[in-house]
Amino acid sequence: MKQKPLFIVLDGGDGAGTTTHSQLLKGFLESSQGLKVYLTQEPSQSKIGILIREFLKNKEIPPTTDALLFAADRDLHYQNEIKTKLEEGYIVISDRYIESSIVYQSVQSDKISVDWVKQINKFVGLPDITIILDIEPKIALARKDDEDLEKFEDTSFLDKVRNLYLIRAKQEGYFIISSDDIIEIVQEKIQEIVIDKLKSMS
Ligand code: TMP
Repeated sequence: MKQKPLFIVLDGGDGAGTTTHSQLLKGFLESSQGLKVYLTQEPSQSKIGILIREFLKNKEIPPTTDALLFAADRDLHYQNEIKTKLEEGYIVISDRYIESSIVYQSVQSDKISVDWVKQINKFVGLPDITIILDIEPKIALARKDDEDLEKFEDTSFLDKVRNLYLIRAKQEGYFIISSDDIIEIVQEKIQEIVIDKLKSMS
């Protein structure tokens, strides 16, 4: 397969497996296809990303503050990291991106509209492929340790998150893959989407 820049995002509710599948996809593209891949995630490793990780444990942070911080982290992440890697010809995989903000921040408050979230994120480049991993929140949370739960890891909140991901995916034409299946099957479906895209570009 010929190396060309491609920006791929895996997104979805907590516990859907975006991290596991991003790592597996990187391994597949590198070892079976011989491609250069840069794997990254949001919140990013920047100082803003580290602050956000702290705030994910703190229910006192207003959703508007979260939205602005995620947007600032993304702006830095895109301008200083993702854009550079794409210019160097890498395939970039981001474990979560703008769709996480659109969904998680807008379901938290009537003050936060999808349009406003798009506005505060308007300087970043958009992915070439967005894949939404869909999972029933009850199943997703059953896999987690109660003591380590972050503030968004609550079944009724994640039900709303799931609904909005599905609505947005249909509106925007994103790929939706059920993450209830075993890992190998889910990963195979992700790989098929990416390979089809790479073939269409060559
Ligand atoms: P994760 O690393 O386990 O995916 O956790 C990140 C959490 O942050 C997850 O609950 C989703 C949330 N989040 C937002 O609310 N908005 C965002 O823009 C991003 C990137 C993540």
